[in-house]
Amino acid sequence: MSLIKDNTPSAVTPDGAIYFDSAATSWPKPPGVAAAMLDYLERVGANPGRSGHRASIEAGRIMYQTRELVAETFNCNDPMRVAFTLNITQAINLVLQRLLKPGDHVLTSSMEHNSVMRPLRALEHEGVELNCVACDVEGKLNPVDLEKLILPHTRLIVLNHASNVSGTILPLREVAEITRKHNILLLVDAAQTAGVLPIDIQADQIDFLTFTGHKSLYGPTGTGGVIFGERVDIEMVRPLTRGGTGSRSEREEQPDFLPDRFESGTQNVVGLAGLGASLKWLQELGISELRLQEEELCAYLLHGLKGIPGITIYGPKESIQQTATVAINLAGYSPAELGLILDDEYGILCRAGLHCAPAAHRTLGTFPTGSVRISLGAFHQKRDIDSVLQALQNISRVNKP
Ligand code: ALA
Repeated sequence: MSLIKDNTPSAVTPDGAIYFDSAATSWPKPPGVAAAMLDYLERVGANPGRSGHRASIEAGRIMYQTRELVAETFNCNDPMRVAFTLNITQAINLVLQRLLKPGDHVLTSSMEHNSVMRPLRALEHEGVELNCVACDVEGKLNPVDLEKLILPHTRLIVLNHASNVSGTILPLREVAEITRKHNILLLVDAAQTAGVLPIDIQADQIDFLTFTGHKSLYGPTGTGGVIFGERVDIEMVRPLTRGGTGSRSEREEQPDFLPDRFESGTQNVVGLAGLGASLKWLQELGISELRLQEEELCAYLLHGLKGIPGITIYGPKESIQQTATVAINLAGYSPAELGLILDDEYGILCRAGLHCAPAAHRTLGTFPTGSVRISLGAFHQKRDIDSVLQALQNISRVNKP
């Protein structure tokens, strides 16, 4: 099955390499994304919400349309509960730094990215208590283990929805049940799953859903945000930045309403124009349909990798239990060396090393050198997977001196 027709972009770069780094950022972008950005720059160009003239109103309309599309994508009833940030790291920092106070207890997992771990480690120095639940060697989290770590003053559980290293999907719904039972807030880092797995902020009982626009939502870099669930009283979260919003300009205090409370300064309208186009494309294609395609390709990749001598695969090794992100090593090669050979000699573009997630690598047993990560997206075809498998097969046959 392929939702991608031959006349749509492919993962082959202009110089003939194949892009396998979708977990870092998606490429290519869907048809219409660049055109929407160009349209804003050439036809509109104005600052939204600042002036009353028609161009400013048009810029505001473009931005609001993207806000609505984000809300629809994650089944949030109120688009104003979507606050844009420049990336998901900023969104996660907003919630962690501006919700938690000394004396609060926060729980996370041993599979987190540094965008979660670094702010949490800094908060620990300021008196926030932190515990990390140990995931197993495939990166899987047992909700029972998590529940055992809950304390009377546990305020927040923060979890990635899927690992950026091994693709391991964490059991979001079970964790959400636990947060409800103990009256704890839930922050979800959906960097690797927004646009990959269906996410419903209401049914999944998420309090803070953080997302990035440039990965599997297929928008440009510089886009992302946080969606506040219905249970969240926004006064609990102080703004990360304060400044001009174009609203309540007579006051020197930050507006207390959404989204202006969290959106100071001129926004990335050109990026949000592109994100609007990619979200429309995703809606037309269907996230569930795309997931089936990626699952099939991931299964094909895993099957091929299992037949190559010397390859170790990390994570679940089952396409249904992971995103289409696969971490490997090849006996006799360091990840950095293998990544370089794949690029230089075969035009295969992967990410090697620690993927900004040392905790995850410790859990998977790949710290400190890391692994080589092959990550797929909407535009990959079976022939691309055949190329990476053939390259690895050839490299595995070479006897190193
Ligand atoms: N977090 C991104 C990655 O995993 C950049 O590569």
